[in-house]
Amino acid sequence: MKPVFVTHGAAGSSLRAAGIATFDALWTWAGDAVDAPNRRGGGFSRVSRHRLPGEDDEGGFYLKRQQDYFPRHRLAGRELLLWREYRALRRFERLGIGCPSVAAVAMRTEGGHRQGVLALVALSGYESLDALLARCGGRPPDATVRAVARCLRRMHRQRLLHGNLYPKHVYVRAGPGGADDNPVRVIDLEDARRVPLVRLAAVRDLEKLNRYCHGVSGFRRLRFFLRYLGVRRLDRRQRRLLRIIVARGRRKSA
Ligand SMILES: Nc1ncnc2c1ncn2[C@@H]1O[C@H](COP(=O)(O)OP(=O)(O)O)[C@@H](O)[C@H]1O
Ligand SMILES: [Mg+2]
Repeated sequence: MKPVFVTHGAAGSSLRAAGIATFDALWTWAGDAVDAPNRRGGGFSRVSRHRLPGEDDEGGFYLKRQQDYFPRHRLAGRELLLWREYRALRRFERLGIGCPSVAAVAMRTEGGHRQGVLALVALSGYESLDALLARCGGRPPDATVRAVARCLRRMHRQRLLHGNLYPKHVYVRAGPGGADDNPVRVIDLEDARRVPLVRLAAVRDLEKLNRYCHGVSGFRRLRFFLRYLGVRRLDRRQRRLLRIIVARGRRKSA
């Protein structure tokens, strides 16, 4: 199979202009590791932070490099997970659901190994919900709650499941924006996919988000849920949905 190397937008052009215009250049570009690599079945996935010469602290890229790193379920195919993430990012972008911009994606088979790189524009001026909750002692501003709720509602109404909705994967812009401008970006879309029902996406994602948003009062959690549904009070169906989410969370953390 021929190697793939595709760039998108101005960020992609700036990579090319800096000489990062081939699979090899992207694969060997030196950066700072973000976390310890993930390993699975002989394959790996690593994320690192990169800057072009002259870029300040705010600019730059995040690269995800994978080798033989496939979905857990064999039925899901033997395609690098970052390829699935790439398609999800493009779809989210098309639907106006906030996510990082793709600068480049590249793939090849080398010595019998499947290798790939996904280059994303670093979110600058954003803070993860994790960091934000820690900073404000579990009491986020109402504008933040509203914006996150609106972004997730939009995603779920499209029957899109994020599938990895930890607070560290939700980013919120710090500064002010326009009135209907979306200040929220979701990252790590490896497991994002269409599911048959809106409700399925809502239960699974909100259960995870609820379980990992530590130190937030019950009152604030309820307020988030009301914002998410866009209602002032819950009707019977909505109360049932909330009970399902809470019960599922209890089961998982038991
Ligand atoms: N575009 C981005 N902007 C800012 N931070 C990012 C971006 N992409 C990744 N990160 C950081 O790198 C970490 C790992 O990336 P992620 O996509 O979650 O990979 P993994 O599959 O290893 O969890 C994220 O939790 C976040 O801190
Ligand atoms: Mg992650």
